[in-house]
Amino acid sequence: MCGIVGYVGPEAGDKALDVVMEGLGRLEYRGYDSAGVALIGQGEVETRKRAGKLANLRETLEQFPLPTTATAIGHTRWATHGGPTDANAHPHRGGEDGKLALVHNGIIENFHALKQELVGKGVEFTSETDTEVVAHLLDEAFARTGDLTQAMREVVNTLHGAFTLLAVHADQPDVVVGARRNSPLVVGLGEGENFLGSDVAAFIGYTRHALELGQDQIVTITPDSYEVIDFDGTPSDGKAYEVTWDAAAAEKGGFPTFMEKEIHDQPHAVADTLLGRTDAEGKLTLDELHISEEELKAVTKVVILACGTSAYAGMVAKYAIERWARIPVEVDLAHEFRYRDPVVDENTLVVSISQSGETMDTLMAVRHAKELGARTVSICNTHGSTIPRESDAALYTHAGPEIAVASTKAFLAQITASYILGLYLASLRGTLEDSDDDLDTILSELQEVPAKIEELLGTMDRVKEIAYFMADSRSVLFLGRHVGFPVAMEGALKLKELAYIHAEGFAAGELKHGPIALIEPGQPVFIVVPSPDSEHGLHGKVVSNIQEIRARGARTLVIAEEGDEDVVPFADEVIRVPRTSPLLAPLLTVVPLQVFALHLSTAKGLDVDQPRNLAKSVTVE
Ligand code: F6R
Repeated sequence: MCGIVGYVGPEAGDKALDVVMEGLGRLEYRGYDSAGVALIGQGEVETRKRAGKLANLRETLEQFPLPTTATAIGHTRWATHGGPTDANAHPHRGGEDGKLALVHNGIIENFHALKQELVGKGVEFTSETDTEVVAHLLDEAFARTGDLTQAMREVVNTLHGAFTLLAVHADQPDVVVGARRNSPLVVGLGEGENFLGSDVAAFIGYTRHALELGQDQIVTITPDSYEVIDFDGTPSDGKAYEVTWDAAAAEKGGFPTFMEKEIHDQPHAVADTLLGRTDAEGKLTLDELHISEEELKAVTKVVILACGTSAYAGMVAKYAIERWARIPVEVDLAHEFRYRDPVVDENTLVVSISQSGETMDTLMAVRHAKELGARTVSICNTHGSTIPRESDAALYTHAGPEIAVASTKAFLAQITASYILGLYLASLRGTLEDSDDDLDTILSELQEVPAKIEELLGTMDRVKEIAYFMADSRSVLFLGRHVGFPVAMEGALKLKELAYIHAEGFAAGELKHGPIALIEPGQPVFIVVPSPDSEHGLHGKVVSNIQEIRARGARTLVIAEEGDEDVVPFADEVIRVPRTSPLLAPLLTVVPLQVFALHLSTAKGLDVDQPRNLAKSVTVE
C-alpha cells in the first residue's frame, strides 16, 4: 500500500529524477491513486504530483520539467485519508517556505489531535491527508534542531500507527532520512549513491546489495554513507543481504502484462521453491526452520494465518498437513483470528502465509500468536520483510518478484512450501511410515509438477476463447470439493478482482444446502473435479453435482484430469489438466482459472495488472 522511493547520488549528479521515476514504475503495483516526486535543487525543494496513475505524472513532468539534481524522493499512492486528488498526492510540503518534503506509507492514527494542535498554532493545510501533519511537525522540529535525522527522531516518537516516512530538506541537500514502524522500508547500497524503497524492486536496476531495517528504526542516507538508529537514538547496524533476483525478473519479459508473465513463471516458482529442500539422497532437509525437532514433535495443533489468496493456499495446506502429519490444522483469516480470543499455546505451531510479508492483518495476528506463546513460522516470498523477520522461522518461497496485483505464482509457491512443511512434520513424526502415502513418492510427484504446469500452459487457447465468449457474463460460479474447494474460491476471487464480475466459490457438497437456488438457464459454473483416484468416491459425488446443475440449465465448464471420461456427457466444456496425485492437484487445477480471469479482464479492456481499488501489499488494517 503506497510505494516510496528515495535516492541520493554524487553532488553534481543528475539522475535522481530518473532513478525515482524508474523505482516508482516498479512499485506502482502498491497503489496507483496518485504519484509524485520531490527534488532538491538550488536550495529549494521542487515537487510535481498528479492524481491517477504514474503515466499522468510523466505527462506533467513533460509539460513542467524539473531541474536535474542528485537527491529525490517519490511516492505512488493507495488512498486512505483524503480522496485520490492532486492536492492529496504526496510528497507533502512542510513549513511556510516549503523547504521540507515528505512521503508516507501507512496511517497516522493520532493525526487528528496533532492537526488540531497545529491548526491552533496557525498552520494552514493544503490537503486532507494525515501525512501533511507529519510534514509540518518535521519542519518545526528541523527549525529547532537544524538536523533532519534529529527532527525525524523527535517526530516519530509522537506518532501512533503504521508508517514509513521519507523526508528531504533543502538545507541538507545530500541527505534522505527514512523511518519505519510496522511498514516496509529497505536500503539499497550503491557506490557513491544510496537508495531507499518500499521493497528492493525500487532500486534493483542499480544495486543488489540491500540492508534490512528493524522495527522502529530511522535510516539516514548520503551518497557515501548510511546510518541506522532506533527511535530512541541507539545506533544499529541493520542487516545486510544480497538480493537473489535481478532487474529482468521484475520486467514483463515479452508478455503484454505482468500477470501473464507471472502465470508463465509458475513452473519455475514451484521448482525453485522445491530447490535445496532435499539432500543428496532425496531426504527432506529444512535447515532454515530454526525450531528444534523436539519442539516440532511436540506440536499438538497447527494454525495457519493469512488473508485472501494466501488464505486459500492455507486451506489447501490444511488437507495436506492433516493427511500427512496427522496434526489438526485450523486455517484462520488473520483479521478474524486476532479479535476472537483464539485458543493457542506453546504447543501450537502458527504458520503465517504471506507473499509480501507486510500484510498488516497477518503481521498483527502473528504478533498476537507470539504473545500467546505459540511458535511461529512464516511462509513468505519477500526476503527481509516484516513477518518473516518477526517469526521464529521463515520458509521462503522462491517465486521471484510478483508485480501484478492479483496473486498467481506466489499462490503456487505457497502451496508448494506448505507441502514441504507438511512432509517435513510427517517425517519427524513418522506418520507416513504406516500410511498408504509414501514420502519419497509424494516428493517425486511434486518434482514432476513444474513440467506438468508447463505442459498445461501450452493448452490454454480454448480457455482464452471461452473467456472472450463470456466477456458479458454478469455472474460466474465455481464449485470444488476437498482441495478443489479452495481452488474454486481462488478462481472466483481472481475473476472478481480482475474482471469485476460477481463470482462465488462453493464447496460442491454445499450445493444442495442453498447455492443450487442460484442456478438458472445459462448460468456459467466452473467445476473443479477431484481426481478419479480420490478416496471416498469424491469424484463420483462431484460428477453427480455436475448433472444436478446441468439438469437445471447451468452451463458447465469442467476442469478434469486427462483420461477422466465420466465428466464428458455432462460438460459443456472440458478443460483438461495433467494427472497427479489428488492432494497435489491444486497446483494444476487453478491454472486454467487464472488464465480465464486474465483473458476475461483483457476482453473487457480492463487493466489486468492494476485492477481498480486494489493495492498489492495491504499494509493497513
Ligand atoms: C489476491 C491477492 C490478495 C492477497 C492478500 C494477502 O489476488 O493478491 O488476496 O493474497 O492481500 O497478501 P499477502 O500474501 O502479501 O499477505
